[in-house]
Amino acid sequence: MAIELVSLPLPASADASKFKDFGREVRGIDPGSLTPEQFEQVKDALYKHDALLFRDVNLTPEQQYALTKAFDPQSESYGHGNNKTEGTKKSILHPDLKTIPRVPQVQLIGNGTVYNHEGLAEAMLKHPSHTTFHKTRVSEEDEAKGVTRFYRWHIDAALYDLSPPKVTTLYGIQVPNGPRQTCRYDDGTGDELEVPLGTTAFVSGRTMFDILPKELKSLAVRSKVRYAPHPYVWMAPSHALPTGLGIENEGLELPLSELPPWEEERRKVLPVVWKNPVTGNLHFEVHPCGAAELLVDPLPEGASKEGALYPDGAHVTDLKEVRELLYKMQRPAIAPSFIYPHDWSEKDLVLFHNRGVLHTVVGAFTKDQVRAFHQCNLAASDDPAGPTEEDVKAYA
Ligand SMILES: [Fe+2]
Repeated sequence: MAIELVSLPLPASADASKFKDFGREVRGIDPGSLTPEQFEQVKDALYKHDALLFRDVNLTPEQQYALTKAFDPQSESYGHGNNKTEGTKKSILHPDLKTIPRVPQVQLIGNGTVYNHEGLAEAMLKHPSHTTFHKTRVSEEDEAKGVTRFYRWHIDAALYDLSPPKVTTLYGIQVPNGPRQTCRYDDGTGDELEVPLGTTAFVSGRTMFDILPKELKSLAVRSKVRYAPHPYVWMAPSHALPTGLGIENEGLELPLSELPPWEEERRKVLPVVWKNPVTGNLHFEVHPCGAAELLVDPLPEGASKEGALYPDGAHVTDLKEVRELLYKMQRPAIAPSFIYPHDWSEKDLVLFHNRGVLHTVVGAFTKDQVRAFHQCNLAASDDPAGPTEEDVKAYA
């Protein structure tokens, strides 16, 4: 059967002009048993539209792993590596992940207690929420009224040693119903967004780049981020901003000498802007919480220095400066009108281009609201490509 692509329903808050290419529902094919031709069409659609939804899907963990791996056949291990190793035990991600024993590349995530699930007799799941990660929190009184926050805007990636996965697959098996919530930014702007309970919110890295003023586009195409070693261990004692888009400058990060053993060569240095391998579009892809340094190239020959930031290049090592620059570049794109909050139904399968979007968990469940999702992404066989020389010339 031919693959059919349908635009995703957008909330009233969304600026439709920014979602012309973003997101498609795929109909007419079974994602668990694609023919090679169908897979090629799905892959092409993923890179063109960044997020694909399949509804009413039956998918075993084996099928989910196979589908995820097909995007990068040489990839094999879970995107965060083996989560039983010392380096990840102290990580802030550790409590959120339960591995499916039969298919360790697939993780069970969600909320509440799940019984007899794919070889797990009993799994206690906790939907992560801002209350344990942000410096400030929504008051309990407001929370009871349905006010919440974004948890943590991110790319799915270990950001140490391993390369960022190309695709993440998220399969909603048990999805609790509940009232919609109000996601508050609490950053002085008054911004807020009405969201379905337990939504996954996505923004396009392409939009994040496209809406920047000239001087910040120039900085973005000339910059690379050096991530902290074992970034999720490093950031564990620190607190996030109220938007979930980075860390407060409180000096709480674990000193590098107290991290699990690490080597300089294994630290990730990745371009700020990643080039889409199918469309050639540039996507702003930075995990702000793990960023430690910025390496800025000088302006290319012939570029005007007028208004340019760091025209002669720079190595920015001051954490506050790094974070302020990134926030200035990323905050505009998480404005309510640029967000696609997915309204999960049971048996939804969402595939997203992990190198083309940023996403976050949103909201808070009560203990009795049971949610079970299967998530899979695989450390990639290569690092993402940055802008070409022509791209740098065009935007610098
Ligand atoms: Fe994620």
